[in-house]
Amino acid sequence: MFDTKLAPAVAGPPQDAAETPHRSPIRLPGTGFFAGKVALVTGSESGIGRETARALCQQGAAVVLNGRQADRLEQTRQALADAGYVVASCVADVTDYAACEALVATAIQTFGRLDVLITNASISQRAYFANMQPEVFRQVLDSNVYGTVYPLKAALPYLLQVRGSVTFISSISALNGMPSGSAYCAGKAAVANLAHTLRLELSDTGLHVGVVHIGFTQNDPDKRVLSASGEPVPIAHRPPRWQKTQAQVASRIVEHIRRRRQRTVLSALGQLIVLVHTYLPRLGDWIVLRTIRRLRHFYE
Ligand SMILES: NC(=O)c1ccc[n+]([C@@H]2O[C@H](COP(=O)([O-])OP(=O)(O)OC[C@H]3O[C@@H](n4cnc5c(N)ncnc54)[C@H](OP(=O)(O)O)[C@@H]3O)[C@@H](O)[C@H]2O)c1
Repeated sequence: MFDTKLAPAVAGPPQDAAETPHRSPIRLPGTGFFAGKVALVTGSESGIGRETARALCQQGAAVVLNGRQADRLEQTRQALADAGYVVASCVADVTDYAACEALVATAIQTFGRLDVLITNASISQRAYFANMQPEVFRQVLDSNVYGTVYPLKAALPYLLQVRGSVTFISSISALNGMPSGSAYCAGKAAVANLAHTLRLELSDTGLHVGVVHIGFTQNDPDKRVLSASGEPVPIAHRPPRWQKTQAQVASRIVEHIRRRRQRTVLSALGQLIVLVHTYLPRLGDWIVLRTIRRLRHFYE
């Protein structure tokens, strides 16, 4: 499903994008690190994606916003446009390849190019594997895996044309297992591995391929994740002092892109997980099993 604001939905990218001239009907911002560049952030109608779009705009990018809810996406587009930023939007489910083609076509039709892709859209869960309906597992996994693969497949010819940048948004929960997060953790680990493989495959193209492992972050009040039966439920409560703000996380994502880093792991907890998982994996399991007994609500 897709619906575009500021640009008509068109067919997907041509086989050889480099041979197809595009003219931008909209003038791109002229100042800032990303001046003259166009970014596409999936799942940017809310949360971290919205703040990442804002941070990119603040540094001079024109940004294509995306989500599945037309009203909420339009509110975000309007708010950023009112702030003076150059934005377009496209309603698209990123687990649908045709919709991803239309999403990328929005960037090309509206701005004439695509330099930066951030695959941020994701569905999370609050459910133990044993209780999960198979269809719910698939939905969470698909949103994280195909929601990363399909936008990149559609955008790749254009990104290669400009030696651009793609960043997959993963989680510190991809670095270790996390009870009640089976499909989510599996999907986030899959995209981290995918980034590594693509970096090797595309090493001589000049494309930046990176992954950001995000830790606990403040959420929009209306954020919902899936229960074992697929009902949207609020996310588990975590103490605010353990959480970074969305703006802090967005600023680290943008810094990661500017420096064309391979991997960024956010938060002290994330760094600790990397160390423990690498050198003392049994200790890591012991800590999780201890905390799940004492702080069950923290995982659920
Ligand atoms: N918040 C945290 O503590 C945390 C921690 C680690 C990693 N992360 C990662 O950071 C990213 C952003 O998380 P967030 O907390 O900002 O979550 P969020 O508020 O739920 O934002 C996710 C966005 O993705 C969109 N989306 C979901 N499925 C989609 C689909 N199939 N097609 C298009 N859009 C879709 C959602 O909009 P619709 O549902 O309306 O389409 C929403 O705008 C995610 O990748 C998440 O896994 C977050």
